[in-house]
Formats: sequence, C-alpha cells, structure tokens
Amino acid sequence: MTRSVRSKWFAALATGVLVGAASAQPLHPMEPHRHAEGQALKNPVPPTPDSVATGRQRYVFMCRECHGNTGLGDGDMAHAGGDIPDFTDDVWLHGPDDGEIFLVIKEGVTADMQPYADRLDDEEIWHLVNYLKTLADRR
Ligand code: HEC
Repeated sequence: MTRSVRSKWFAALATGVLVGAASAQPLHPMEPHRHAEGQALKNPVPPTPDSVATGRQRYVFMCRECHGNTGLGDGDMAHAGGDIPDFTDDVWLHGPDDGEIFLVIKEGVTADMQPYADRLDDEEIWHLVNYLKTLADRR
C-alpha cells in the first residue's frame, strides 16, 4: 500500500468514527438509566384492550422470536447476542416511561435490538408499548 492510499484509508476511518460518535443515537450505559428525550414524550394512544391486542399482534410477528411468547426473553433467537431483557420484571434498562420504551423500539439500541422506524409507524409502536406494559401484570 502506498503512503497516500494508506493515509486516505485512515482519513476515511477517522471520518466514520467521528460521524458515528456525532449521530443522534443516544448513549446506553449497561446499568438502568433514563432518557430525558423519551421522558418528555406523551403516549397519545390510550391503552385500550384494542390497542393492547394490536400491540400483541405486532409483537408475535416481529418481537417474539427474541423476547419470547410471554416476554421472558426466552425466544429461540435469544442466542443472537446481547442479553434479552425480561419484560415481566419491573426493570426497564432504558427507562420505564412510555416514551422511553417508544424510543428504544423506534431508534434501536444494539445490533440485535434494531431500530423499527422503517417497519412500524409511530402509532403501531405506541400499541406495542401499551402491550409490553401489560406483561408485568400477567406474571
Ligand atoms: C433479534 C432479537 C430481537 C428482536 C427481534 C427484538 N428485540 Fe428487543 N431487544 C433485544 C435485545 C438483545 C435487547 C437488549 C438490548 C440492550 O439494552 O442491550 C432488547 C431490548 C428491548 C427493549 C428494552 C427493554 C428495557 O429493559 O429497557 C424493548 C422495549 C424491546 N427490546 C422491544 C422490542 C420490540 C417491541 C420488538 C419487536 C418490534 C423487539 N424488541 C424485537 C433483542 C431483540
């Protein structure tokens, strides 16, 4: 590799790192933490039985494979990497407010827990939030 090619490569790498660091992705420490941006969001969808049922429907199609049928984190794909949280306990790693859970689903947090913004509209994500919040009560 010539000197100029190598320095171009380093420049590209450095730019990639800088762009990554400056992106809108929020920081996610390993321990439970809060997201002010999510805390400021108000859930516009009341948790009616219809909303919860719609959330359940989406969950079965898109989330159950990892998060498990009852939200215990025991889905078949749970070995894909990363710890799958238990939705039936009272720990929400990224914050317990509806808006915080909403942003986790919309923006994603890891390679496993991907952003769903392209696959679900906001209203569908709120239905999912309403459904997830019922799981702790079903224990
Ligand atoms: C490929 C596996 C996979 C799929 C599919 C998946 N998740 Fe996740 N999910 C994860 C993992 C792993 C984490 C833990 C991420 C972290 O915080 O490190 C997670 C975390 C979460 C959290 C954060 C919980 C907390 O304690 O704060 C929520 C909420 C969530 N997922 C909802 C969903 C929803 C809703 C869907 C479907 C639309 C979904 N997930 C699909 C793997 C998955």
